[in-house]
Amino acid sequence: MQTVMVRGVGLIGSLVVDKLLARGVRVAIVSRNPKRHQGRTNLTIIDRSDNAAQIAALKEASAVLNLEGKNLARGLWTERNKKEIQTSRKDSVAHLAELMRKVDNPKLKVLQASAVGYYGSRGDSILTEDADPGSGFLADTCVDWESVALKAFKRDRLAIFRIAPVLSNRGGVFPIWRRSFRVFLGARSGDGKQYFSWIHEDDIAEMLIYYMEKFSPGPINATAPEPLPNGLLTEILTEKFSRKAVLHLPKFIAARLPGGFGREMLLASTRAVPKRALADGFEFRFRTFADAAEDLS
Ligand SMILES: NC(=O)c1ccc[n+]([C@@H]2O[C@H](COP(=O)([O-])OP(=O)(O)OC[C@H]3O[C@@H](n4cnc5c(N)ncnc54)[C@H](OP(=O)(O)O)[C@@H]3O)[C@@H](O)[C@H]2O)c1
Repeated sequence: MQTVMVRGVGLIGSLVVDKLLARGVRVAIVSRNPKRHQGRTNLTIIDRSDNAAQIAALKEASAVLNLEGKNLARGLWTERNKKEIQTSRKDSVAHLAELMRKVDNPKLKVLQASAVGYYGSRGDSILTEDADPGSGFLADTCVDWESVALKAFKRDRLAIFRIAPVLSNRGGVFPIWRRSFRVFLGARSGDGKQYFSWIHEDDIAEMLIYYMEKFSPGPINATAPEPLPNGLLTEILTEKFSRKAVLHLPKFIAARLPGGFGREMLLASTRAVPKRALADGFEFRFRTFADAAEDLS
């Protein structure tokens, strides 16, 4: 039976781990807080400070999925927090690379997280994996994160997933929308023309597992095929929650949120499309935002 290592089990990792275990795959979780994770059949939980246990697991593994990184939406974007967001990602890659240098396992594939933030804010340009990186804090963070990975791992064994905001009931942006719309605080941001790239939780988990089996190196946009403008997204959520979006978050207020948070997280326009995943035969369950929103509660 094959083993997969998952480092940084939060929103995305827990979905992947559940699906792998359900399919009879052995999983080794690496965590800074091993007690947070419940023991299950076929699951090994490794303390992140235990290098020897990680090396032993990597010797047996067919793939390692590295999702570690300080959450972007937790805390204000102060200079200190922004530094931690960046260093936690680069240090994570460096730590994994250091462990892998002690492992002789030619089968081992690395699936590394990055984000569509790589592309920055690009109006209505369609962004495939071939597009150049953008500018700003998120783009710089992703460029550095990816370049550390490209230097650390063998390129033909490395796939980098530029993940879009994940729509889930368990965390991320969707529960925030739900809470806001239910109390009439749902709002269009800026002029509503900016594109929002997204992916449903089931599709991101399935896509990562798909590429563990049908491996293909290089960058892969982990986004649904139909990104949409913020104005249309607001209309769909208005209908879903049966609450009119009476508010509108003006651009000049959003742009003043600390550290560029509003500019990069609320006003940025990123129209990323999954050219490679579609070409590689991955089938999305949720292609449109309306279908994804309908599925979530
Ligand atoms: N969810 C999204 O919408 C989205 C979109 C684009 C990109 N991504 C990227 O995909 C990855 C996984 O996303 P997610 O939503 O599952 O993230 P998450 O829920 O925040 O989980 C990330 C995990 O990383 C570990 N971690 C947290 N801070 C860390 C630090 N300072 N150093 C090392 N490890 C740390 C934690 O696991 P332990 O406490 O168990 O160690 C945490 O559970 C992240 O790198 C994220 O940037 C996510």
